[in-house]
Amino acid sequence: MNEKEQLKLYTEEVEKVVMSYLPAEEGHQKTVLEAMNYSVKAGGKRLRPMLMRETYRLFGGASKEIEPFMAAIEMIHTSSLIHDDLPCMDNDTLRRGMPTVWVKYGYDMAVLAGDALMIYAFETAAKSFALGADPALAGRCIGLLAEKTGIYGMIGGQTVDVELTNKPIPEDKLDFIYRLKTGALLEASMMIGAILAGASEEDIRKIEKIASAIGLAFQIQDDILDVTSSPEVLGKPVLSDEKNNKTTYVTLEGLKKAKEDVEKISGEAVEGLWALPYKNQFLETLVKMLVKRES
Ligand code: IPE
Ligand code: IPE
Ligand code: MG
Ligand code: MG
Ligand code: MG
Repeated sequence: MNEKEQLKLYTEEVEKVVMSYLPAEEGHQKTVLEAMNYSVKAGGKRLRPMLMRETYRLFGGASKEIEPFMAAIEMIHTSSLIHDDLPCMDNDTLRRGMPTVWVKYGYDMAVLAGDALMIYAFETAAKSFALGADPALAGRCIGLLAEKTGIYGMIGGQTVDVELTNKPIPEDKLDFIYRLKTGALLEASMMIGAILAGASEEDIRKIEKIASAIGLAFQIQDDILDVTSSPEVLGKPVLSDEKNNKTTYVTLEGLKKAKEDVEKISGEAVEGLWALPYKNQFLETLVKMLVKRES
């Protein structure tokens, strides 16, 4: 199997896990359930649960206890996209190749679906206890998931991102935004994999650093694709950042340096993986593939 075939197979496997934890679309609140599931089912690369599973495997994890957390991180990520697309935020109408949740279900339902998905993620993650997870480790993972999602993580980053729209952003603040709005959930993904597999404190810290680099490179590449790609390939609108008059890594550093830095920062992440006492070849391949990603 070549790298592309392996990625396809793993994406399908991860997708199956995520789907198996989606709520049934029934009851008087059916509309919000449909909106939640619509956004998750629309697709996406499933990068976060994949990184989580591969990091779990890296440290020798081999149980189904990881699966509720895989579903949870994809739910949280998807909830962040639902809110990110709202008219009061980036005001975008296309996501994962489909109309955004607010376009399809209305502004009100999109707010509720984002909230619902974010909190259902924690309901889902808690199912790990019943699958035999070590209670202390699973409890720590749930706390970490909340931390990296909330004010000290993704929401903190989105706050500064939104607040500084239409304003020049110095490089240190842009770094703060990227490390939080995008990096934090990638850190949570990989750290949870490590923690649940019983990794040492030293290795968990190393994994956090590696994930942070992957997150930074990932967001810079996202900025690049916003100016170089097409909606057909990307599944979301291009020139969204320009439309919203956002300072991005590309506007600040130029396209050439942005591309160089994606490569450089991803290289640092790969070196970080080499420095670990364990090896997972696919994890390394995945990080390298992200540098060349087109969507
Ligand atoms: C998009 O994330 C939002 C960012 C953090 C840049 P992805 O590029 O992982 O989106 P999906 O999950 O594949 O749709
Ligand atoms: C958003 O960054 C990151 C999130 C936390 C959702 P962007 O606004 O650049 O993400 P896209 O380009 O809409 O996916
Ligand atoms: Mg945004
Ligand atoms: Mg956006
Ligand atoms: Mg973007």
